[in-house]
Amino acid sequence: MTDFLYRQLLRNLTEEIRSERRPVGSRLPSIRSLSRERGVSKSTILAAYDRLEADGLISARPRSGYFVNGVQHTDPLSSHPPLISQPESTPLPVTSGQVLMDIMERGAAFDLVGDQGTELGNEALRRCLARAQRRQTAGNQNNYDEPAGLHRLRSVLANRLHSGGSHLEADQIIVTSGCQHALLLALMATTQRGDVVAVESPGFYGLFQLFEALGLKALELPSSAESGLSPDAFELALQHWDIKVLVVSPCYSTPTGASMPESNKKRILLLAQSRNIPIIEDDIYAELSFNEQRPRTLQSYDDQGLVLLCSSVSKSLSRDLRIGWIVPGRYRERIKQLKLVTSLASCRAQQQGLVDFLQEGSFDRHLRVRRQKLRQQYQQLLEMLSQCLPSMKTCSRPQGGLALWVELPDSVDSLDLYGQCLEKGIILTPGRLFTAQERYRNALRISFAFPWTEKRRAALALLGRMVADQ
Ligand SMILES: Cc1ncc(COP(=O)(O)O)c(C=O)c1O
Repeated sequence: MTDFLYRQLLRNLTEEIRSERRPVGSRLPSIRSLSRERGVSKSTILAAYDRLEADGLISARPRSGYFVNGVQHTDPLSSHPPLISQPESTPLPVTSGQVLMDIMERGAAFDLVGDQGTELGNEALRRCLARAQRRQTAGNQNNYDEPAGLHRLRSVLANRLHSGGSHLEADQIIVTSGCQHALLLALMATTQRGDVVAVESPGFYGLFQLFEALGLKALELPSSAESGLSPDAFELALQHWDIKVLVVSPCYSTPTGASMPESNKKRILLLAQSRNIPIIEDDIYAELSFNEQRPRTLQSYDDQGLVLLCSSVSKSLSRDLRIGWIVPGRYRERIKQLKLVTSLASCRAQQQGLVDFLQEGSFDRHLRVRRQKLRQQYQQLLEMLSQCLPSMKTCSRPQGGLALWVELPDSVDSLDLYGQCLEKGIILTPGRLFTAQERYRNALRISFAFPWTEKRRAALALLGRMVADQ
């Protein structure tokens, strides 16, 4: 009954917002008054507001209430609901194939045609980096930076993380060589060979590579393409397995783009805290929200230093900078030592260039434009998919990030399709990369990171014809 009331309320509110009966910027009724008005419990209202927030339709403003956001879309794929995964619930050792290496060598993890060299770069960033390089002193050239990274950069990053609700000081951050490096350090600090690591499924392929390299077993947990990792599944898994750490990406996780409701973040954290299990939070896509405000970090709810937050500028600004960071919580000394072991230090001039870029306000300008473009490119992709891939079974509806996840008919094997497409110059990211199990063979991650040029539109149309021929 409660579930029914929740769904009905959610449907009504969504409809009222999309039809603009609740206009952009308007304030939603308080939880108490809506509960009275609709005759449902406050927790049902709160759950519905949480869901609307995760869907990007509304935002909570501290001490002011909930407000309708500025971005609503029509959904040309409303008959293709996002999926909920049901992976096998046994921890498995991980072995990976050659496909990822092949995709990376073609520079095409996020592009159907591996052609992003033609897009414009960021001129302001280039200027800041060049200036920092020119100003480098002889002393800097001949000495390593301190292991934690440039203090000024850590301080600017700490300030930026306030928008995710994380109130940090520079000393609580360590600079890494990208987010993959941060994830490596976090896993090294919290696990030993043979340990079981819980992870959402489907999950980021780079993680499975790390599990393999570190001899860890992946316990893949059911996740929804809308709300991410299921807290119920995590709770159940904790009762059955000796889980050493959970890795999760609450904000626009790849490949589905799911966003975790705030109540799920809190519940997952409480479950982990009750067993003293660290959580590695991958926050790399959070700045790429389709709305003006990034979602809160899971780390922001943690008062025990159990969450290790990992991120980088690779998705929001430049993959080539190779600058990332980790908020190590209670693992600070260990992570600092591991940073030293794995890379000694980071490049000072690069870090200084990034500091200048961030401080000039160029990053915020860049993000505003980027978010808007991503929103458009996503909407265009949905429209193209509804025309090119009518046989598609499900399609996720992210509210940020760079990609979505589609399930094709069961007869399609996306690994076979990968080979066939390569011959035509199209590079797919097959579902099989996002699991250590024999799953997701009929799924694909499709990116909207780049503008839909004629070449990309033609590639998508050709992909649609090839799927139809399977
Ligand atoms: C979820 C996720 N985490 C981490 C990374 C690695 O990021 P970086 O390039 O900063 O090492 C990626 C890159 O695709 C990613 O998608």
